Amino acid sequence: MTGFVKFLHLLTTAAWFGGALGAMTLAVAARREGTSERAFVAALIGRLYSRLIGPAAAVSLLSGLALTMMLAIQGFGPMLGSPRLAVMQGAGLVAGILVLFVGLPTAVKLGRLAASAEGDTLPSEFDELRKRQGIVQSVAGLLMVIAFYAAAAL
Ligand code: HEM
Repeated sequence: MTGFVKFLHLLTTAAWFGGALGAMTLAVAARREGTSERAFVAALIGRLYSRLIGPAAAVSLLSGLALTMMLAIQGFGPMLGSPRLAVMQGAGLVAGILVLFVGLPTAVKLGRLAASAEGDTLPSEFDELRKRQGIVQSVAGLLMVIAFYAAAAL
């Protein structure tokens, strides 16, 4: 059982990270495009968040919490205080909260705003929200890299 939950944790963490890198690449690539292309990309990123990144982050967090409980029940409690696990859990939890409670709703809102674009102009809120999304999701990405590094190398 623990093996399966660890597998789920690794699979969904990889899907979350890969999806987020894909969203970032799309967002950066669309910067110099015209309004309709940017609107289309924003709608695609909204779907990427709601169909892949959000669910994968939720399962990654839940499976991480389940693994923590399983290790504690199996008598490996002291191991949970090791830097490897403590840094991974801390950085991973904050990254997950940023993605689920800020990244996901903002990406869906950006997709909706993009759909309401009229002619050659995107709603004024769009660029402001897009910049904030870039900053918050870069922080989440950095925390994920820290979590991966801790799990692999500490
Ligand atoms: C971005 C977030 C995360 C990343 C990149 C990540 C990465 C990993 C990796 C690579 C492993 C396998 C380590 C190994 O077997 O040597 C692992 C296992 C584990 N993770 Fe995470 N994790 C994240 C979030 C979390 C969270 C939020 C929790 C709990 C609150 C958590 C709890 C655990 C536990 C308990 C294990 C099992 C450790 C063991 O059996 O030695 N993880 N994680």
